[in-house]
Amino acid sequence: MYRIKTDLKYSDITPRADFMNRRQVIAGAAGLLAAGGMAQARMTGKKSRYSTDEKQTKFKDATSYNNFYEFGTGKEDPAKYADKLTTDPWSVEIGGLVNKPGNYSLGDILKTVTLEERIYRFRCVEAWAMVVPWIGFQLSDLIAAADPAGNAKYVAFETLHRPSEMRGQKNPTFPWPYVEGLRMDEAMHPLTILATGMYEEELPNQNGAPLRLVVPWKYGFKSIKSIVKITLTEKKPPTTWNQISRRAYGFYANVNPDVDHPRWSQGSHRVIGGGLFASRQPTQKFNGYGDEVAGLYTGMDLQKFF
Ligand code: MTE
Repeated sequence: MYRIKTDLKYSDITPRADFMNRRQVIAGAAGLLAAGGMAQARMTGKKSRYSTDEKQTKFKDATSYNNFYEFGTGKEDPAKYADKLTTDPWSVEIGGLVNKPGNYSLGDILKTVTLEERIYRFRCVEAWAMVVPWIGFQLSDLIAAADPAGNAKYVAFETLHRPSEMRGQKNPTFPWPYVEGLRMDEAMHPLTILATGMYEEELPNQNGAPLRLVVPWKYGFKSIKSIVKITLTEKKPPTTWNQISRRAYGFYANVNPDVDHPRWSQGSHRVIGGGLFASRQPTQKFNGYGDEVAGLYTGMDLQKFF
């Protein structure tokens, strides 16, 4: 394909975003042309008005301090064990109340969407936070392509269940597979993305490769990793953490400093990578995305629907 000097890697001659997204390049109908030009135009420098310019968390911190119980409950377990996971080939079953259900390969999905960088604040329910530069596309694009039926009110997501590669799934304490859900209008909101990369790299396995949800105004547990199934439903779907404790983890899980966890305050958080003596930061309602999303909850009692 390419004749290149042996000391050059593909990543050296290709913009990093293209490299990261080689599946999209490979999947591209235009073949070589895509690899050389077209995909590059689609990928490079697509910045977003939704990005924050706050200080980004170091790549090392964002990829070594993780929650991904499929690989164990320790923060360091995902980085240790997630390399076992096979992420290629990967397909996503899209079904339920859609007119175009199907089992789509990730490559096919990536042909129909536009990737962009979104630098988002990310707030875990455990009261720590990061700022992460994701690469992804709007979930609304994928849902629109599946042609939702008029009575679809919720979107349910499911993580891969493969205990042979996900050692944490042998732990029967948790109800596998991990499942999550959004209301349809939340799923269609432009801030809601499916990420395939971060820090201009392919998504590391411990961060939910090859495809994970990111909903920046909600607690991190809503941002389900390694998704294999997306189902549109009329009824509110069950969600893993809500099943574990309805009192502690609501379906909505909007970041809210006024609603404390039964065991700790949500009024402030620790910034990951800030060091042992860094002061805690005040947590903002909707994680600071209120201007964009507060309207989704007009008239709802956010103490009750937490
Ligand atoms: N998705 C799955 N499948 N399994 C998990 O254990 N943990 C959630 C969420 N998505 C989790 C998951 C939680 S609690 C958080 S805070 C984020 O992933 C962590 O994402 P990060 O490791 O990329 O920071």
